[in-house]
Amino acid sequence: MESQKKIKIALTGSYEESKDLIQTLRYIDQLELCAVFNPQSSLSILKVGTDDIPVFHDLETFIQTNDFAVLALEREVPDIKACLSRAGKDQVMVIPREHLRIFQPFFKKLMEVAALNKQSEAIMEAAQEGIQVVDAQGKILYANSSFTRITKVPLKERINKNIFDVSPDGSLAEVLRTGRAVFGNTHVTEGTPIIANASPLINDGKLTGAVTVFSDASSVEKMARIIQRSKEEVASLKEAIHEMNQTKYSFQDLVGQSPAFIKCIQQAKLAADLNSTVLITGESGTGKELFAHGIHGFGNRCSGPFIKVNCPAIPANLLESELFGYEKGSFTGANKLKIGKFELANGGTIFLDEIGDMDFTLQAKLLRVLQEREFERIGGNHPIKINVRIIAATNRNLLEQIEKGLFREDLFYRLNVIHIHIPPLKERREDIPLLIDHMLKKFSRQNNTRSTEKNPLPSISKPALQELCNYEWPGNVREMENLMEKILIFNNTGAITKEDITYFLTAETRYCHNKTTCLTIKEMEKRLIYSALDKHGTTLAGKKAAAQELGISLTCLYDKLKKYK
Ligand SMILES: Nc1ncnc2c1ncn2[C@@H]1O[C@H](COP(=O)(O)OP(=O)(O)OP(=O)(O)O)[C@@H](O)[C@H]1O
Ligand SMILES: [Mg+2]
Repeated sequence: MESQKKIKIALTGSYEESKDLIQTLRYIDQLELCAVFNPQSSLSILKVGTDDIPVFHDLETFIQTNDFAVLALEREVPDIKACLSRAGKDQVMVIPREHLRIFQPFFKKLMEVAALNKQSEAIMEAAQEGIQVVDAQGKILYANSSFTRITKVPLKERINKNIFDVSPDGSLAEVLRTGRAVFGNTHVTEGTPIIANASPLINDGKLTGAVTVFSDASSVEKMARIIQRSKEEVASLKEAIHEMNQTKYSFQDLVGQSPAFIKCIQQAKLAADLNSTVLITGESGTGKELFAHGIHGFGNRCSGPFIKVNCPAIPANLLESELFGYEKGSFTGANKLKIGKFELANGGTIFLDEIGDMDFTLQAKLLRVLQEREFERIGGNHPIKINVRIIAATNRNLLEQIEKGLFREDLFYRLNVIHIHIPPLKERREDIPLLIDHMLKKFSRQNNTRSTEKNPLPSISKPALQELCNYEWPGNVREMENLMEKILIFNNTGAITKEDITYFLTAETRYCHNKTTCLTIKEMEKRLIYSALDKHGTTLAGKKAAAQELGISLTCLYDKLKKYK
């Protein structure tokens, strides 16, 4: 605080008698206790806080050696006024004891206020935030030590200076100019981002000053960055979930008009609105997955998620955690919580593809979920209720699998509530021309050879179509898709002939179906890899599934791919 000329005050009496008065005087800036007169005391110095106050035992010396303007008579001294007069100090104001007593409650109050002030100061010192206070004219009255720590400005460069000189554009100056609070003012001091909030101090409706609170915003910034990153992650997860929600295909994508196929579609549409489990069987490539999407998209769960689980593609030891998830710390390596596919599918559909190849022990766990409609995460201790429609598919004959002891009979009956069997193409040859037409359009579109007058859809000769209708199609619609795609790539004449078909079909047949052809082991391996990749695709997931099917590790598959280029 500003140094000013203080009024000196002296006192007669002991510390005990005058404790309140002495303590109070310490807090009154304008007063300074300079001496005590106490003939009975053995002390020569009275310690009051950090001050040493001389104690006089001789009245004459007390009056003559001290230059005080006020004398408080805590203990009455006879003829004091005459004594003062003798020393030429008539102007000294003498406050008799009874008058001091009148002020006693006032002293007490003052002490309380002083104590409160000290406490407030201690609180402001303890604050991690920097605090700076100015009066209405802008004079800086106070700043705590955190202020210096954060702003790197020494206190002496601030206290008693005017804010309009030292920081004319800062938030305090603005508050004094406008009378309004300023929030979230940010600036960078020596590389540290600082955020300041300043408010006016109003007393009796008048602006008496302003206070600002600074904080080091690095931690806030760090937190904001973390929140931002989490927000981005959530957004991408939302997107992924949205993608999962969207079934890729609908019944409109299913081409066919044979009575057998129409029956399948009708069954599937009926099943769509029921919540019962659906089992879709049929040879490989007959469209089981397409049907599963169609059922989900046609039913009342269409806005819920559609989660596909390719049972054999996930190693048996991981399938359980994939399906049910796990709690953080439930096993070594479980360093974060994982939500399983069943939980992800809540409110929607879970599609258990290739269920016939599911690990036998896991089949029991799946059966329990189907029965109880609840499960626990691995390492979890509370059951999670789920509302999930289950669609399972397989190209295996489950009854045969049961006989071989590879599939649980009880699980089969649980899954087989609504059974849709998609007949192979050879049993619904009426669908072949339609499918061929559909694929010609689809691949022409994909290859950007849109049908225009100049560039019509590739035509297919009658004998060529006949050839396709007579073929056995062991790989069903998928095989047809592959074949048509290859033909369209290699034949750019716009007209597909019987020769094209025979050429590609023979190559295909030699490749995949003619088991009597004598091939070298190397050639055989090459073809097996080719056909597995053809089936599963060349994405990472496809390669994983292909390796799984071939019974080799992913690394081994990569080695072989490199070997065969
Ligand atoms: N009726 C159909 N109409 C149009 N495309 C079809 C039809 N049936 C199947 N397909 C196509 O054939 C391919 C194979 O279909 P899908 O994957 O559904 O067969 P799948 O029965 O699940 O085969 P797998 O048992 O090998 O898994 C897909 O690309 C699909 O688009
Ligand atoms: Mg499938």
